[in-house]
Amino acid sequence: MNDVYEQLKYLLRPSSVAVIGASREPHKIGHQVLKNLLKGGFPKNRIYPINPHAEYILGLKCYPSVKDVPYPVDMAVIVVPARIVPKVLQECVEKGVKAVTVISSGFKEIGRVEEERKLVEIARKGDMRLLGPNVVGVCDTIKSMNASFCQDLPYRGDIAFITQSGALGIALVGWTKLKRIGLSDLVSIGNKADIDEVDLIEFFGEDPYTKVITLYLEGITRGREFLQIARKVSKKKPIIMLKAGKAERTVAAIKSHTGSLAGSDIAYEAVFKQAGVIRAPTFPDLFDWAIAFSSLPLPEGDNVIILTNGGGAGVMATDEAELRGLKLMDIPEDLAEKLKEFMPPFGSVFNPIDLTGMATKEWYRGSLEVLLADPRVHSVVVIYCHTAQTEPREIGDAILEAVKSTGREKPVIASFIGGEECYEECERLTAEGIPCYESPERAIVALSMLYKYRDFTRRKETVPPIFAVNIEKAQRVLKVAKEEGRKILTPYESAAIVKAYGIPVPEQGLAKNEEEAVKIAERIGYPLVLSIESPDILHKTEVGGVKVGIENAEEVVKAFREIINNVSEKAPHADIRGIVVRKMAPPSREVIIGMHRDPIFGPMLMFGSGGILVELIKDVSFRAVPLTVEDAYEMIKETKAYSLLKGFRGMPEADIDKIVEIMLRIARLANDFPEIADIDLNPVFVYEKGKGCLAADIKIVLQ
Ligand code: ACO
Repeated sequence: MNDVYEQLKYLLRPSSVAVIGASREPHKIGHQVLKNLLKGGFPKNRIYPINPHAEYILGLKCYPSVKDVPYPVDMAVIVVPARIVPKVLQECVEKGVKAVTVISSGFKEIGRVEEERKLVEIARKGDMRLLGPNVVGVCDTIKSMNASFCQDLPYRGDIAFITQSGALGIALVGWTKLKRIGLSDLVSIGNKADIDEVDLIEFFGEDPYTKVITLYLEGITRGREFLQIARKVSKKKPIIMLKAGKAERTVAAIKSHTGSLAGSDIAYEAVFKQAGVIRAPTFPDLFDWAIAFSSLPLPEGDNVIILTNGGGAGVMATDEAELRGLKLMDIPEDLAEKLKEFMPPFGSVFNPIDLTGMATKEWYRGSLEVLLADPRVHSVVVIYCHTAQTEPREIGDAILEAVKSTGREKPVIASFIGGEECYEECERLTAEGIPCYESPERAIVALSMLYKYRDFTRRKETVPPIFAVNIEKAQRVLKVAKEEGRKILTPYESAAIVKAYGIPVPEQGLAKNEEEAVKIAERIGYPLVLSIESPDILHKTEVGGVKVGIENAEEVVKAFREIINNVSEKAPHADIRGIVVRKMAPPSREVIIGMHRDPIFGPMLMFGSGGILVELIKDVSFRAVPLTVEDAYEMIKETKAYSLLKGFRGMPEADIDKIVEIMLRIARLANDFPEIADIDLNPVFVYEKGKGCLAADIKIVLQ
């Protein structure tokens, strides 16, 4: 067990709880918290109300200060006005309280940042973890602890729910009860001054009572830690996230392509993919999927069967399955023969298997048993449309009997369509461990989430090799720019840096005069591009600072002179450092590789279709650093550029492995130099497999 688990155990599974600010007035929150603790079933003799003005509240002995409690206190809930919180917090430290929940509002959320920071300082000095401030509290069904002002404890279950919105937390307790969904814990995180979602994911990752971790979040603060912890925990338990705030764009407008394409939600989306976090668009979806994960094993293979008594419902399910990438198994002949025993002659053994409106309890049970016993079948969706032929309860029994008789080794999900009886049967089946939904699509989507998560757990995570790079060389180039107070590096400087990191760039040299230019040209060969090197000129073509297609020494001299003349005329005050003589890269398929430093998640890598239409096409994918080898390949596969690179219309396959290497090297560069804000390699020419790439145009911007 790790440190965070040991620390948060006192918050979520304490043996004793003090309520500081336990009020005598029934309408006050401090009174309600005390009442809720009692009502929830937490041991009465381990609840200590603290109030200097009262002797007894709700029949419990009161203490003037937590320091006066003669027993150890694991957790204290603080419900006094903000101005008194630092004082009582200090008393908690002196008492040796292990964790506190600060319900009180009136801190960072109203601009009192310093006051909130002070709370954390007191808690940290006292080795005490702090939840809040500005929270509803904590509900833990394992210890029957309702240390919150939620009316009731949720039903007991194995889904943990972490919420950034307190009001939503309270509302959802009612909603989960209505839907008969059980939770292990409900934790409101409020201002997240100390304990945040990363800590809680880590705790629930270790918690033996929690199978599924669900969250409602508006934002993540410790982005890199989130990726690291969530990625680790996801391998053991599914994390389902409802992340609100899609429309927000917190990333400042940045001039490079990468920057302008990066929005904060894009970054979240990318990180969730990397961390295996399943993103739910709505609460019903979040709990639909959580229930499926909580009740079912993961499928061992890809073959899905749809069993129905209604053709239409079967078709709807099939459409959704195809959309979600599920594989509907073609029924082998021997299996079809067995299934025919359980349907009329006009039934269908095509998948979806249609038992027809005549389907009986026996047919449902028989066919499901045959399917579950067949090793080629890996998961089954059972659909039932209420007909006059059977009652939902009978079909529910048939499913349960079949599942029980064959062992619960494969996921079986149901969908019952009809009136009240169907609704009730759905609830019963769900409670019995067969998640049942009111529409076939919801059942299929829930199953597809099991597959998605299964794929994540099976995914290899290969740490990139340690590339040989020339850090000193890159440092030297960056030092010059920093000393001159420049944020945008020249293309020549940018090329020097990426080259130092082993990224192939066209051969080039900086010439101070015509003779040097010719010498460089003769060394690297033709055709060439000559371009002005000046930190003051961002748009070289506009001042006549670029000449392309230079084929011989004579043309070099001519181009050199023309560029100098043009620039002297159009940008007379520019600081000219020379002229870059660069080999023209042979054109090929173009991609963009970039890096943008996100304020929350740090360096984000970008890959996409390159060239001048980048912003128009927006065929890009993002992932955060650290990037695994698989992340890089996945990024490429997500884009349309992938089809082009694989060999579109008879083209040979391009050097995808080299693109991956460049991406991993850029990730390393971004990690080594936090002062780099953006890197843009556009276009990168990608040649045939085995023949490499060339980053033709490079732009680096500093923070
Ligand atoms: N130690 C212990 N108790 C004390 C102390 C002390 N040092 N000093 C005073 N008290 C007692 C008071 O005497 C009072 O008890 P009494 O009513 O028996 O006299 C009790 O503590 C509470 O103090 P009050 O001053 O009456 O404070 P009140 O209950 O009005 O408000 C509260 C306190 C609830 C913490 C309020 O300041 C607050 O922050 N409310 C907002 C809470 C909230 O909404 N949190 C976010 C949830 S998230 C969401 O959006 C839903």
